[in-house]
Amino acid sequence: MKNYQQEFDASVNDREVFWKEKAANIDWYKFPEKIVSKDPKDFWRWYEGGSLNTAYLCLDYHVANGRAEQTALIYDSPVTKTQKKFTYRELQTQVAKFAGALRDLGVEKGDTVIIYMPMVPEAIVGMLACARLGAIHSVVFGGFAPHELALRIDDARPKVILSASCGIEFDKVIPYKPLLDRAIDEAFFKPKAAVILQRPMLAADLKEGHDYDWKEVAEKALPADCVPVEAWDPLYILYTSGTTGKPKGILRDNGGHAVAMKYSMEAVYNVKPGETFWAASDIGWAVGHSYIVYAPLIHGCTTIVFEGKPVRTPDPGTFWRVIAEHKVSVFFTAPTAIRAIKKEDSEGEFIKKYDLSNFRTLFLAGERCDVATLEWAKQHLNIPVIDHWWQTESGSPMLANMLGVEALPVKAGSPGKPVSGYDVRIMDEDGTELPAGKEGFVVIQMPLGPGAFPFLWHDDERFKESYLNTFRGYYLTGDGGYKDEDGYFYITGRIDDVINVAGHRLSTAEMEEILAGHLSVAECAVVGIADGLRGQRPVGLVVIKDNHPIEPEVLEAELVEKVREQIGAVAFFRNAIVVKRLPKTRSGKILRKIIRKIADSEPFAVPSTIDDPAILDEIKESFELRRIGVAFEVQS
Ligand code: COA
Ligand code: AMP
Repeated sequence: MKNYQQEFDASVNDREVFWKEKAANIDWYKFPEKIVSKDPKDFWRWYEGGSLNTAYLCLDYHVANGRAEQTALIYDSPVTKTQKKFTYRELQTQVAKFAGALRDLGVEKGDTVIIYMPMVPEAIVGMLACARLGAIHSVVFGGFAPHELALRIDDARPKVILSASCGIEFDKVIPYKPLLDRAIDEAFFKPKAAVILQRPMLAADLKEGHDYDWKEVAEKALPADCVPVEAWDPLYILYTSGTTGKPKGILRDNGGHAVAMKYSMEAVYNVKPGETFWAASDIGWAVGHSYIVYAPLIHGCTTIVFEGKPVRTPDPGTFWRVIAEHKVSVFFTAPTAIRAIKKEDSEGEFIKKYDLSNFRTLFLAGERCDVATLEWAKQHLNIPVIDHWWQTESGSPMLANMLGVEALPVKAGSPGKPVSGYDVRIMDEDGTELPAGKEGFVVIQMPLGPGAFPFLWHDDERFKESYLNTFRGYYLTGDGGYKDEDGYFYITGRIDDVINVAGHRLSTAEMEEILAGHLSVAECAVVGIADGLRGQRPVGLVVIKDNHPIEPEVLEAELVEKVREQIGAVAFFRNAIVVKRLPKTRSGKILRKIIRKIADSEPFAVPSTIDDPAILDEIKESFELRRIGVAFEVQS
């Protein structure tokens, strides 16, 4: 058994041997000819020449190898008061039938399918059915507004869209079908068909010849077999926020992904096949793709699809109830969720109500984990709490405590050390590697680990520009951070216009584009300020045009509505503060970082290039007048 350092060193210094050995842990139709190589576009790729099917690995393999009667998936929905269990055999049957239904609608290998659904088992059936056919799914988070969905429809050009009549948020029923219809109306590309899951809480109107009832098509269809695909063939596209209004299509291929999923379950999460692993995320995010669907199933675990929230569904004990009832060994959630629970149950009284004897480890990721949250969870749960760091791009952790290799001491505030395959470094802006203690850009030496995206969907230039061109031979993560003398890394936040609101990655640049589109807005800036529950939340500063006057309150209400309309309620955009001017450098660059620091009451140096330092006092006053910022949060 290797220790952490030996394992990590082998994974980056002896890639061919290490990752060949890991590849042997999944069942290929044809074992790869090469382990890591470059494609004709000069992009790094894993497992050239390998042939497999990811849905086969998730289901058929287990049915044929002794897990047919094991529970594969538990649907636990406190919002609908429903629970349902599916064995591996039952899930395989459903997926094969639904794949048949998709095939009947003309979906073939290489076609794209968008999935816009709430947290119901059918959403997972839809994903796996696409994988079974070699079709490429693109799940769009249900909290996004029609405009966001339309952007993704135009980019992914899906043959078919899968959706449901409604989703449920706490006690609100959210009709999905009208949102879907609006998105299709707005999009230039028109999908051939939509398959709608009719839920009992609200039925949707179906358009003859375009919309199909999920149950009807699935019942009629003959099961479809797994279609072999190449390791390099795409499995899915997952859009994530970048630094412009257009989301980035992160592409995941089949081979490297399957190997990385399997490896991370053993090496990072230290879970055994047959155990219950639960990630309380949403299938609309990378965490949901990897750790609700693919990794637990490939590894032969039982996974949970949870349709609820950490609180008020019905109480702050709901997570602990699920863990106790379904004997969860390893649980993964976002720090925001723990903060929400802590707020309502500060003494952890609800934790005491449940038998959590099977619960071994809590993993947190998705946003920076503050020490108070980590300590609270550790104290009340009395188990190791592991912060770990990753991105949609990587699809699995890049910094963690690899418990399945060697449990290292936990340092609160650090997401740990580099995970196998990810040679993480800290660099200054000239590309010089920085010593311990010095903060800089977090970068990763190429190639990334096998589960990471090989490039962006249909946008090679943006891929190179966003990630590769800044430091030759290194991937730019977009995060800032430093490492300590013991090799632990610390992530200090994004260095670009991306913010993290309740674990949801959003672009402030996109919000700025929306605000700037208002007739009365001369110019604007959106920054992510500290938020006690959500980690960050966006706040806008706007300057009104002289020739289009409007009352500040009216403008604010209209802008809040506009962001909600275009991005969705999840953006949590609640404030647009009217100011006379924005702080800028003499060359006209808006000093967004300083605006954020003013709101967060953090010290900052006034840059020598600032156009007019007096504006900073005006901005501070504006925040104070509106009682927005860290200082006011503490008091409220
Ligand atoms: N579909 C439709 N609407 C959604 C949605 C979804 N899937 N998810 C969120 N929304 C809506 C909410 O209903 C809310 O709408 P409102 O303004 O009309 O009330 C809005 O988006 C803001 O949501 P949120 O910021 O999540 O606030 P909340 O009060 O509803 O919930 C938490 C707060 C902390 C309970 C919730 O954010 C949470 O569970 N966070 C953890 C998130 C997570 O696990 N992320 C993991 C990513 S890895
Ligand atoms: P996403 O692509 O939505 O998973 O968001 C990725 C971003 O979330 C990263 O680039 C980080 O900025 C942030 N993030 C994720 N996990 C952590 C963590 N453990 N600590 C700090 N930031 C994190």
